[in-house]
Amino acid sequence: MLEKNSFFVAPLAGITDRPFRTIVRDFSPDVSLVTEMISCHSLVEQHKNCPRNFDNYGAEGNIGAQIFGADVSLMADAARILQDNGAKWVDINMGCPVPKVATRAGAGAYLMRDHKLAGDIMRAVVRAVEIPVSVKTRLGWDSEHMDWRELVDIAADAGVKFMALHGRTRAAGYTGDAVHPDVHELPIPIIANGDIKDVSDVQAMENLGYAGVMVGRAMLGAPWKLAEIMGQNAPQDIGRIVLRHLDLVLDYYGERSGVPLFRKHAAWYSAGVPGATAFRVAVNQITDAQELKDKISEFWGCVAEI
Ligand SMILES: Cc1cc2nc3c(=O)[nH]c(=O)nc-3n(C[C@H](O)[C@H](O)[C@H](O)COP(=O)(O)O)c2cc1C
Repeated sequence: MLEKNSFFVAPLAGITDRPFRTIVRDFSPDVSLVTEMISCHSLVEQHKNCPRNFDNYGAEGNIGAQIFGADVSLMADAARILQDNGAKWVDINMGCPVPKVATRAGAGAYLMRDHKLAGDIMRAVVRAVEIPVSVKTRLGWDSEHMDWRELVDIAADAGVKFMALHGRTRAAGYTGDAVHPDVHELPIPIIANGDIKDVSDVQAMENLGYAGVMVGRAMLGAPWKLAEIMGQNAPQDIGRIVLRHLDLVLDYYGERSGVPLFRKHAAWYSAGVPGATAFRVAVNQITDAQELKDKISEFWGCVAEI
């Protein structure tokens, strides 16, 4: 069986922010988490509208901070900032398929097309910090270019400590079943990512030689999912968890941004519960934090702490 810190929560933009990570740690304090991707430009220029640029990770347990970008020296500077802010390791995004990142910025998944630039970024980031550096990537750009294995060698040569491999191509996006190649005898440990939902998936990944597993979408509306995969029972008091999550979001973002931002979480938490559609419609109209707390309490039949 894998060690606890070999279970990872995947980086999820707009989701694995500090409030969400805090809730995950309520259930599984020893797992490893990766932040949402952070732009090297935004971090180095200290853009004020992104609270994650100012996160301090010192008290957060085993956490990797993920950066994306195509500028070698800015990526190195960004990695240094994350190290200073207490990240336990730095992760380089080489898998994001969204056009804004992968085509327009030449970052994320685009780096699978430009191995020279990918290697330069890896080497510069490894040189810039004392903490470990990892890479998260996909099988390749498309089914004609499945060259993840070459990237593993480039990463190992550059001093990257481990790689998370999402078992899809950039072209596949998030569709189709993830495919997990055998990774025995590779020069660095590989973490399996893509469609991992239960203990039998974990066992299958171990059999294929993976050093760990990384869970993404199964955590939406279920921040206890990784703990469940590791053998704990799912919690019963969902309303209380939702209220705690909301309080953390309000503290972190403030009421004006926090209330609309929480709507998607409320929708995921309520999915499959009777009355969820009406609840979602009501929540989407609410702009006041206390009203949102009352609605959540009413829906799950618990009492909001004021
Ligand atoms: C909403 C959303 C946001 C994501 N954000 C990131 C990100 O910031 N960085 C990254 O490397 N991958 C990101 N991913 C990809 C996931 O980390 C993961 O590779 C993918 O969802 C496959 O794993 P899963 O099947 O367990 O969800 C994102 C995926 C989703 C659905």
